[in-house]
Order: sequence, then structure tokens, then C-alpha cells
Amino acid sequence: MSGPTPDFWQARFLARDMPWDRGEANSQLGAWLAAGILPAGARILVPGCGQGWEVVLLAEQGFQVTGIDIASAALELCKAHLAQRGLSARLVQGDVLNWQPDEPVDAVFEQTCLCALHPDDWQAYAEQLHRWLVPGGKLMALFMQAPRPEDEEGVIGGPPYHCPMTAMRALFPARRWHWPAPPYARCTHERLGRTELAVVLIRR
Ligand SMILES: C[S@@+](CC[C@H](N)C(=O)[O-])C[C@H]1O[C@@H](n2cnc3c(N)ncnc32)[C@H](O)[C@@H]1O
Repeated sequence: MSGPTPDFWQARFLARDMPWDRGEANSQLGAWLAAGILPAGARILVPGCGQGWEVVLLAEQGFQVTGIDIASAALELCKAHLAQRGLSARLVQGDVLNWQPDEPVDAVFEQTCLCALHPDDWQAYAEQLHRWLVPGGKLMALFMQAPRPEDEEGVIGGPPYHCPMTAMRALFPARRWHWPAPPYARCTHERLGRTELAVVLIRR
């Protein structure tokens, strides 16, 4: 296996060493929902949900949300946040590279799961995202911009692994995904000192 192991992620949650965690839902998700990009009650997956602030927001707004994570400690935290608010969501401990939903869904919220996977696994993950969605389904993606000096020497560093838009276009080619025209909204990740580019791709 290339990249971080399940134990790596579990240990980070147990130690509460989660610099990627905003402590609240990404405001871009709120903006997308306020713009009405999802129909009421839509089925939505949140792969690599972590402690699940976005799972909570989606559940609060009445969506049928499933959070998937490889680390049980992440899901325990998410479960507690949901319980505190009297909300429910389906939480699944699994590997996004081989887990399948019972049926295709309407949307996927992808935030820092792709950049948590080694690029060796990106193609397989992109296939999964395509398989999970119904035709016309929406991939709400936040592509992490995390360039490192060693990139120029060909060293693959991460997580977070840099998600340059040329690579994103190769992973999600226009023949399989509808791309809106750029420029794309930029979301600042203060704690990581990074930026994410926010794009809604539509599965063809
Ligand atoms: C950088 S964290 C992001 C968590 C959350 N999306 C957020 O933005 O706060 C990456 C998450 O992906 C999970 N993860 C990593 N590899 C995974 C895999 N193969 N299958 C499922 N979850 C995975 C980790 O356990 C972790 O919760």
C-alpha cells in the first residue's frame, strides 16, 4: 500500500492531532446548499468524513447522508456530534477504494479525502466516485492546493497530496464529467495554510 495506513489515521484521531479539521462545516458546503444545488432529501455520500462536520450539516438539512471513514475513532466523534444534536446519519467504517453503496446516490461531498490518498490510488478512487453517482449526480469537490518545494524534484509528498487542476482534469475527464467554466471559488484553509478550489462536477 502506498501512502498513509489505516493505523496512521486512527492514531491521528485518537491523539486529536487533526490539523485539517476546521472545527465546523466548510462554508462552501453551506453556500452550495443555499444556492439549491441539491434537491430536498437527496442521497449524499461523504467519503473520508473524519469527525464529520459536513455530515452533521447535511443531516441537519434533511439529506440522506452517509459518512464513510477508515478510522473508527473518526466515526465515534461523528456519532457523538450527531447524537448531541439529535440527528441521524449512516456511518460506515470502510475503505473508499472498495466500499460500495447499495444503490447509486445523488451527490458526493469530496473534501480532503482525495488529498489524503496517495496518488497511486487516485485513479481507483475516481472510478469509485463515478460508480457511486447516478448519471447527472453531483460531485461537490474541494481540490486541495498543496504544492511543496520537493514537487519540482519529482518527490510525491503528503498527506495532503497536492491536487493540481491539470491532474484533476486527467482524473475526471470531460468525456465522463461536466466541468463548469473557471475560475473556481477559492476556500482558504486557515489551519493548514492552504487553499481549496471548489468545483461541482456533474457525472455524465
Ligand atoms: C485529511 S482527513 C479529512 C477529514 C474530513 N474530510 C475533513 O475535511 O475534516 C482524511 C480523512 O480520510 C480518511 N481516510 C483516509 N484514507 C481512507 C480510505 N482509504 N478510506 C476511507 N477513509 C479514509 C481518514 O481517516 C480521515 O478521516
